[in-house]
Amino acid sequence: MENQNTVRKPRALSCIQPSGVPTLGNYLGALRNWVDMQDEYECFFAVADLHAITVRQEPAKFRQQIREMFALLLAIGLNPEKSLLFVQSQVPSHAQLAWLLACHTQYGELSRMTQFKDKAQKHADNINLGLFAYPSLMAADILLYRPDVVPVGADQKQHVELTRDIGERFNSLYGDVFVIPEPTIMKTGARVRSLQEPARKMSKSDENQNAFISLKDDPDTVMRKFRRAVTDSEACVCYGEGKDGINNLMEIYSACTGKPLDGIEAEFDGRGYGDFKTAVGEAVADTLRPIQERFREFMADKAQLDALMKQGAERAETVARRTLDKAMKKMGFVII
Ligand code: TRP
Repeated sequence: MENQNTVRKPRALSCIQPSGVPTLGNYLGALRNWVDMQDEYECFFAVADLHAITVRQEPAKFRQQIREMFALLLAIGLNPEKSLLFVQSQVPSHAQLAWLLACHTQYGELSRMTQFKDKAQKHADNINLGLFAYPSLMAADILLYRPDVVPVGADQKQHVELTRDIGERFNSLYGDVFVIPEPTIMKTGARVRSLQEPARKMSKSDENQNAFISLKDDPDTVMRKFRRAVTDSEACVCYGEGKDGINNLMEIYSACTGKPLDGIEAEFDGRGYGDFKTAVGEAVADTLRPIQERFREFMADKAQLDALMKQGAERAETVARRTLDKAMKKMGFVII
């Protein structure tokens, strides 16, 4: 019923795994869009820690990464007064609904997931049931909150489509329980590429540390990495074919300063790459500085951080539980 109510804002949900520090690419391409969505949508954002254990995690490090990811979401400007921020494992309904949905997900469907095939190849010694069933848990994350849109990167589109199939299957078996979300690929933010091999996407798992900017990189590191960024021999700050390196730097500069590409060409007309790289480095350092300051503040107050997690988890569970109960009741479970 609540979905037919036209006065409410559309709902959005997305999650991020706590696997290492996000890159500038994750921020400019996705996370920053989450911040912008907060006014237009009723937002649910979660740290998907249950998904992270499909590959081995070292417990002490894992605990730290979960806290850090939650603090980072706050630091980039997600506001717990406006949006519901929580940690997936702290909301028991996720694992519960995941089981119900797993029983409505076919082996053949899961076998076709490209992320499963990739990860199974990368971690050939640990192709566990969780890795295979990952999309059923993701479907639970989504369907519990009845979102209208699920902003994800292109790599997650297949999982959102499977979520729709599972939700529709469930609804047609038991009656309307789930809202089927739109498979929203975010109105793309900047597509940030590797600073060393600009034909490739910027990735935090790149072996070459100079290829990516981590959101934790200090200004000196940022400047050094941009100074070493791969460009070309043309010495013209202009956007064009065969100029992947410069195109990438221009896009990063544009995303950090709000300046359009042609304005950037004009600004650096007749100036060398050295000047330009310095300007890009400074723009990025300026973008990261306030995030890093807030991150340090949130990490310094563990009691506050835990209280915010608890508040988010309780609110999320209230919403999620309602959907879970409804699904269980429709399936014939005895609700007490
Ligand atoms: N699988 C997503 C990723 O790795 C993270 C994720 C988990 C997610 N649950 C989700 C994204 C629900 C969107 C909605 O990026």
